Amino acid sequence: MKSKKKTNRTNSVFNKDSRFILDTLGSEVQVTSTITSPPYYDMKDYESKNQVGYGQTYEAYLNDLKSIFKDILSITKEDGSLWIIIDTFKRNNQVVTLPFDLSNKLKEIGWLLQDVIIWKKDKTVPWSTNGFTQRKFEYILFFTKSTNFKSKRDKVRVYDTSHLKRWWVKYPERYNPKGKALDEVWEFPIPTQGSWGDKYIRHFCPLPRDMVATMIELSTEENDIVLDPFAGSGTVLSQSAYMKRKYIGFELNKKYIDMFTTYLHSTFEANRIEYERTHENKAQLNFEKMILNLRALKYAKVLLSHIQKKLLINNFKIFVTLKQKSIIKQKLIKVQYDFIGEIDKSVILPLLNELSSKSPLSKFGIEPIFNLVKTKKLILKDIFYYSENNTHSYIEDKKLKSEKGRILSKIKINLNENDYL
Ligand SMILES: C[S@@+](CC[C@H](N)C(=O)[O-])C[C@H]1O[C@@H](n2cnc3c(N)ncnc32)[C@H](O)[C@@H]1O
Repeated sequence: MKSKKKTNRTNSVFNKDSRFILDTLGSEVQVTSTITSPPYYDMKDYESKNQVGYGQTYEAYLNDLKSIFKDILSITKEDGSLWIIIDTFKRNNQVVTLPFDLSNKLKEIGWLLQDVIIWKKDKTVPWSTNGFTQRKFEYILFFTKSTNFKSKRDKVRVYDTSHLKRWWVKYPERYNPKGKALDEVWEFPIPTQGSWGDKYIRHFCPLPRDMVATMIELSTEENDIVLDPFAGSGTVLSQSAYMKRKYIGFELNKKYIDMFTTYLHSTFEANRIEYERTHENKAQLNFEKMILNLRALKYAKVLLSHIQKKLLINNFKIFVTLKQKSIIKQKLIKVQYDFIGEIDKSVILPLLNELSSKSPLSKFGIEPIFNLVKTKKLILKDIFYYSENNTHSYIEDKKLKSEKGRILSKIKINLNENDYL
C-alpha cells in the first residue's frame, strides 16, 4: 500500500465514508481533538449511500460508531480528546439511552469518559417527544485518550460580571481571578434559519458556533488538528479555521461540502479578524485586575478589624499599594500595607504575621509586605478613601474622608452589589 503523507491532509474535507478514516489519512496524522455530532440513528436521511444510522439496526449503528472512534483513537495524540454531541430518542414508546450505550462501547476500546455535559437549547428536533415533558437538552460526552489531557479551562471561564452573582463584589477572595469555572449545563441556542447568511442552506442540525468555539478553546491550541468525521454543514471545521487550528472533515454528502467551501471562503476573513481581536481577552484581564484590587483592599479591612478588636487601638490608617506578581506558590500578588500612626511595632508585627498566615487571609492569594510609619506624606490627588465596613466603593464625601476613611489607596473602585444578580 502506498504510504500516506501527512501533508495535504489538513484543512480538507473528504467526500468519503468515515468508516475509512485510516485508509484516507494514514496513521501519521496526529489529531488533538475530535468534535462531532454523529447522525441520529435512523431518524434522518442525509441523502447519501452508506450513511451511518439511516436504515441500520441499532446494534450495527453502534458498532459502526465504535469502529470509527477506535480508528480515531489510534490517530489521536496522547493529550487528545473527543467531544460527541448526542441525544436519547424514543422507540416503541421507550427511551433509548444512546449516549450511555455509546459511552459503554467507547470505554471498551480505551476512551476515558471525563465529563457528561448538558447542552440546554431552546428546542430540540421536532420529531423528539419525551412523554409529558418538552425536550430542551442534548448530551455532550467528553472523552480523553489519557488522564494527561489538554484542558485550557482558564480560557473559558465566566468573567462577564453581568453573569455573576452579586457576592463577587463583597467576597472577591471566593472568585477565581480568571473567572468562574464553567458548569455542567451549557446554554447555547440552536442557530436559526438565516443566521448562516442567505446563500447558505440550512443544514439539518448545525451546531452553535459559540459552543464549538468553547470546545476548541478548552481542548486545543493554535496549529493543533481538529477532526469532524460527520462534518455536515462544517461548523466545527470553519470555527477551527477561524481560530487558527487545522481541520480535517469527512462528509458523504457532496452538496454539504460544496456549501461549506463557499461559506468558509466568504466568512473567513471577518471571523479571523474577530478572533485576533478577542482571543487575547481584555475583558478577562480586566476582571482579573478587578478581583485582585478588591482582594487587596478587603485584606486591609480584615486586618483593621482584627487589630482593633485584639489590640483595642484605632489611631491608625492603612495605605494599600499593589506591587508586582508574587512568585510564591498559591500567592498571586505582592501588596504593601503601610500602617500610618503611633503603633508599637513589637505588639503589632507578631499579630500581623499570625493573621496573614491563617485563614481567611491566607486564602486571599496575597503576599503582604508590612511597613510601619509614623506619618506618611501623601499627595492627596488620586488617593481614594475606604471605610472599615466597605472596601468596594470609595467614600465620595470629602468631609467624611479624614474620619471614616481608614483605608487609603490609589486603587479606585466604585461598585454597587445591587447592580448584580
Ligand atoms: C448530525 S449531522 C452533522 C451536523 C454537523 N455537526 C453540523 O454542524 O452541521 C451528521 C452528518 O454525517 C454525515 N454522514 C452520515 N454517515 C456518514 C459516513 N458514513 N461518513 C461520513 N459522513 C457521514 C451526514 O451526511 C450528515 O451530514
